[in-house]
Amino acid sequence: MTSPSRKFLSFSQILGLLPLPAEVLLPGTRPPVDFFSFDTEAMGFLPLIEAGEEVDLRVQNRLRALPTPWVFVQTLMWPKGRDYFAVNARIASQDESLPLERRILLLVEAGHVLLEKILERPSAFRDAEKVLELARGLIGLVDLGEGTFLEVTPNVRGEYSLSRHCLHVALITAGLTAHLQEEAPWERVCTVTAALLHDLGKTRLPPDLLDKPGPLADQEWELVRLHPVWSGKMLEGWKGLDPMVARIAAEHHEKVDGTGYPQGLSGEEIHPGSLIVSVADAYDALTSERPYGSVFRSFDALRNMLFEKSFDIPTLKRLAILLAGK
Ligand SMILES: [Fe+2]
Ligand SMILES: [Fe+2]
Repeated sequence: MTSPSRKFLSFSQILGLLPLPAEVLLPGTRPPVDFFSFDTEAMGFLPLIEAGEEVDLRVQNRLRALPTPWVFVQTLMWPKGRDYFAVNARIASQDESLPLERRILLLVEAGHVLLEKILERPSAFRDAEKVLELARGLIGLVDLGEGTFLEVTPNVRGEYSLSRHCLHVALITAGLTAHLQEEAPWERVCTVTAALLHDLGKTRLPPDLLDKPGPLADQEWELVRLHPVWSGKMLEGWKGLDPMVARIAAEHHEKVDGTGYPQGLSGEEIHPGSLIVSVADAYDALTSERPYGSVFRSFDALRNMLFEKSFDIPTLKRLAILLAGK
C-alpha cells in the first residue's frame, strides 16, 4: 500500500540556486537580486538579469526563449528578493492569458512568502486582511478548474516545510468547500483561512521536535497535542478575523468519533469547517514527503483515511470525487 520514501534534490538546489516561475520578472520592474536561467546547450546557469536592471524588451525576449518557464536566484539572496517575488507572483497570477496551473502555482508561491513571514514571527503578524485575500484568491482559482490544484501541488513542493504544508491544506480545503460557495461563501473563506493558519501553534514547539523522525516520547507527544490549542489562542488575538477561524484551527485534530485531540470532541460538537480541514490536513500529510513516515499515493491515502473510520465521510467522498476528476 505504501510507496517507498523518496528524497529528491534538484540540480539547481544542489548548486544553491532556487527555481522560481519566470513570470515573476514582470516587464518594467527592476529585481533587487540577480536572476539566472538554465542554458540547455551549455548545460549550465547563465546570468539573465542583474540586480537593479530593468526587465526590458531584451530580457523579455530571453524569457520567451527559455526551454522551461523557470528562472533562478541564489538561495543566499532569497531574503532580499522575496518581497519583489511575492508581489509580482500575485500580480502575474491574475493574468488570464496564462494556463490555470501556472496561475495557481504563482499564487501559491506568493502565499508561501506570506506564510513564511507569519511563521517566522507569529507574534508580530496581525494582518488578517492579507491572509483573507490569499484565501479568496485560492478559492477563485480553484473554482476555475476543479481538481487542477491537485496536479499543481507536487510541482510547487520544495523541501517539505510547515508553510508549504499549510498552503497545500488550504488549496485542498478550497476544493473540498466548493459546495459552500452558493449558501455560505463567507464560511468558505474562513475555512480556507483557517487551513492556511491551522498549524500556527507549531511555531511554539522546539524545531527539532517538528522534524523528528520516528516515534515521539510520551512527553514530546503531550507537547505536540497542544499545538491546536496554541493555534486557536494565537488567532484569537488577530483583529479582523472571524472567531470561526480560531475555532477551526483549535479543532483541526478532532475526529468525528471522538478519538481526536486535544479535547476529544465528537460529532456535532465539532465545527463542520474543522472536519474539512482535518481531512485536507491528513491527506496532505500522508501524500507529502516528510522527515518521518512513508509517502502514500493519492488513492492509498484516501483508502487509509476511510479505513480509519474517524474522518467525516461526506468530506472524504468529496475528496474522492476531486481525485477522480483530476
Ligand atoms: Fe496540526
Ligand atoms: Fe497540519
